[in-house]
Parts: sequence; structure tokens; C-alpha cells
Amino acid sequence: MSEFPTLPSIVTELPGPKAKKLIQRDAKHVSTSYTRGYPLVAEEARGAIVKDPDGNFFLDFAAGIAVVSTGHCHPAVVAAIKGQADRLIHISGTDFYYTAQVEAAERVARHVPGKGTKRVFFGNSGAEAIECAIKLAKYYTGRKRFIAFYGAFHGRTTGALALTASKAAQKERFFPLMDGVHHAPYGYCYRCPYGQTYGKCRFECVGFLEDTILRTVAPASEVAAIFVEPIQGEGGYVVPPPEFIQGLRKICDKHGMLLVADEVQSGIGRTGKFCAMEHFGVTADITCLAKGIASGLPLSACVASDAIMDWKPGSHASTFGGNPLATAAAEVTMRLVDESLMANAASQGEFILAGLREMMGKYDVIGDVRGKGLMIGVEFVRDRVGKERLPELRDEVEVECFRNGVLLLGAGPNTLRICPPLIINREQAKFFLGVFEKSLKSALKRMGFKGFPF
Ligand SMILES: Cc1ncc(COP(=O)(O)O)c(C=O)c1O
Repeated sequence: MSEFPTLPSIVTELPGPKAKKLIQRDAKHVSTSYTRGYPLVAEEARGAIVKDPDGNFFLDFAAGIAVVSTGHCHPAVVAAIKGQADRLIHISGTDFYYTAQVEAAERVARHVPGKGTKRVFFGNSGAEAIECAIKLAKYYTGRKRFIAFYGAFHGRTTGALALTASKAAQKERFFPLMDGVHHAPYGYCYRCPYGQTYGKCRFECVGFLEDTILRTVAPASEVAAIFVEPIQGEGGYVVPPPEFIQGLRKICDKHGMLLVADEVQSGIGRTGKFCAMEHFGVTADITCLAKGIASGLPLSACVASDAIMDWKPGSHASTFGGNPLATAAAEVTMRLVDESLMANAASQGEFILAGLREMMGKYDVIGDVRGKGLMIGVEFVRDRVGKERLPELRDEVEVECFRNGVLLLGAGPNTLRICPPLIINREQAKFFLGVFEKSLKSALKRMGFKGFPF
């Protein structure tokens, strides 16, 4: 096992010779549908550091798409997985009982906001949690239509993909999908689709949903649920005004619809609270969790009150969902994601946000900096006045950060997302900010921008 530093070091050209060889083999047999932004080959990882096969160490501010919440290979998570593997790897919770699944369900039920007894359905992926929520909402309400939002990403199975409205490429050639989904504008004022300014809105998104969609195309009495990401993830790390989420709750209560919170990316402490909905003081009827729930093992959870999750045996099941290894890892993860780890996410996030906002004052190409906890987005534009999106600069900064030893991922058309493991420390946060500015400067130079404080 290698010794791991706390900061990155790059010792070869990137990709190095061993990494190059693996990438060539990958090109031959792995699906071409994946979207790799730069050539990282991961061999080992610990905490917030990833090592490649050529001996380069990277600071991971992407966390395997916001998955390794407690850091890579947290010793307690590794011990839980190993211990479970020695005892029981599979039996199927669909047919039988085992301790790990019950313990994980108890912890999830305790952490997810909402009064009374809650029940949990375990799947293997975010999309499966969403599929479960779609079916449960139909089953409970007897209704068949759904509302979702532009910019939303809910997964790639045909039900979840019907709710998704993030990138057209994700849907290209897959029509028809699940029928009965209506999309509305997401409550985001920075780039209002109607050109309104923040807080001065006469045509705001909740009003649009009620006055237009429910009045003209989707009879409210037929809508089973509104699916919403409390903070949009793939859509660009978009934080809505609290009134937007609160307004959705009111619409649901008024019309007997369920509010489904897709917390697949925003949940498990990422925003400084266990669920991001807590920032808005709103409780969802169904909550979907995945990514960070088991520190890297594939697991998702669809959570609802026992009144809602009261369906007949056979209504829904999954062979591998909630398997012993994943639920053992989840049980430990949820113990580790305690008040102090969430407070760390909140405070490191505030520090990073402040640093990025300072940079925004210097660089006109940073169109917006936003986020909560360690779910932060930086948007790139040609200039802040025109707000013309600049995806090329986003891509260039992402690759430059990689060359400088920091791993990031894009989100939305022109945003970089910052979603490190929740365990990062101040030294790593500072290092990230330094690399980010250095990479932005190099990217601007390379793209021929003039007039910035180089
Ligand atoms: C908010 C949200 N919902 C659902 C999904 C789908 O999750 P998965 O890729 O595990 O199916 C994602 C994945 O990025 C997501 O961010």
C-alpha cells in the first residue's frame, strides 16, 4: 500500500506512459458513450488524494461525481466492507432478511427529515431510486402525470430520462420515453429564461407552473408528483431561491401531489446539512438518495413515510439493491457523516466560496459563483454584462487544473463543479483556490484573452 501525501504532486507528463497504455486498451473494449474530459487513470486513492499508475498524485475535488463522501477508502468503511465480505456477500433482501440492510434502513430513516415512521427501498443507482419514486407516486396517488424542471438530471433509465431535461444529447435517439412528463422553468434568477432580474419577478417559476402548465396542459388532478433537485446538479450546480422550493410545497399541498426531492447528488451532508431541502425549511414526501450514501459502493435509497410506502408485496423489488456489502458501507458512512463532518463541509465550502467570489471580482469571465457547503458551481462567460456562455473556457480550465494536479468536473453548459469529499481540510481548500486561479490565468492566456490581471 502506497504512502499518501495530503497535496498533489505531478512527476510525469500527463497522461504518463502506464496511463496511456490503459487508455489505449479502454478505447478498444469500453463503451464509447462515456464523457471523459481529461485522461486521468486512477490506481489507488486515500482521503482526497488519487494516485495514478505513473506515481502522480491528484487532489480530488470531484469525488467520483460527489460519491466518496467520507473520502477514498476511509478505514472504517473498508473495515465494514471486508468484515461483511467475510460473513455474507449476497442473499437478496427481496426474498430474505439480514442485519446490514435493516441497520442501514434504520439510519437512513433517522437522518432523512420528516415526522413519523419512514420506510426505505434500496436500489443500486440514483436512477433506480428515481424509478422507485415514480412508481411509488403512481401507486399512492393513482395519478400518472409528473412535473419536472428544465436543467434537471434524474438519471438515464427511460422513466428517469423522461424527467431529465439537462442536455439534449442524453435523449437523442431514445424517444419515446415515459409519457406524461411536463417541464417547467427551474427557480433560478441569474439566467432567468424570461429575462427578469432577481427578486423583481412578475413571471416567476412557481407562478408559471401554476398559471401555465397546470392551467393549460397538465390537469392538477392528474399530476402524481413534482420531482425537484433542491440544488440542481448536472444542470450546473444551481441554487434556487428558497421561495421556489417553498412554492412547490404549497402547490403539492393544494393539489394533492407528492413532492419528490431528488437528493441523489445534494444529500448525505454534501451541502452542510444531511438533505439540501433542510436549507429551505421544506420536507419532501419522497426523498431519493444515492451517490454519497455508501462512500463509493453502489447503493440508492428511496425514502417515504410508512403511509406512502405502503404497497403490496411484489410491487417493486431489486435483486442486488441494498445488498449486504453496500448497506454495511452505508451504515458506517451515515455514522461518519455526523454533525462535525457536516460542519466541516459547511465551513470549507464557505471558505472556497469566499475565495472564488474574490476571484470573480478580478475576472470578468467568471459569470457566477454559487453553492452550499461542498456543492459549489463556477460559471464561465465571455463577460458578465452579456452573460454569453463560454463552455470552451470551462473545458480549458478543467484540463489545466488536471495538469496542475486538481481533479474537477463540469456541470451544465458552462459551469465547473466543486464537490470534494466532505473530509477536506483548510490546507487542501487553499491549495485548490491557488491552482484554480493559476489554471484560469493559463487558460485565458492560451485562449488569447487580454486585459486580465495576469
Ligand atoms: C440529481 C441526480 N439524480 C439522479 C442521478 C442518476 O444517478 P445514477 O447515475 O447513479 O443513476 C444523478 C446522477 O448524476 C443525479 O445527479
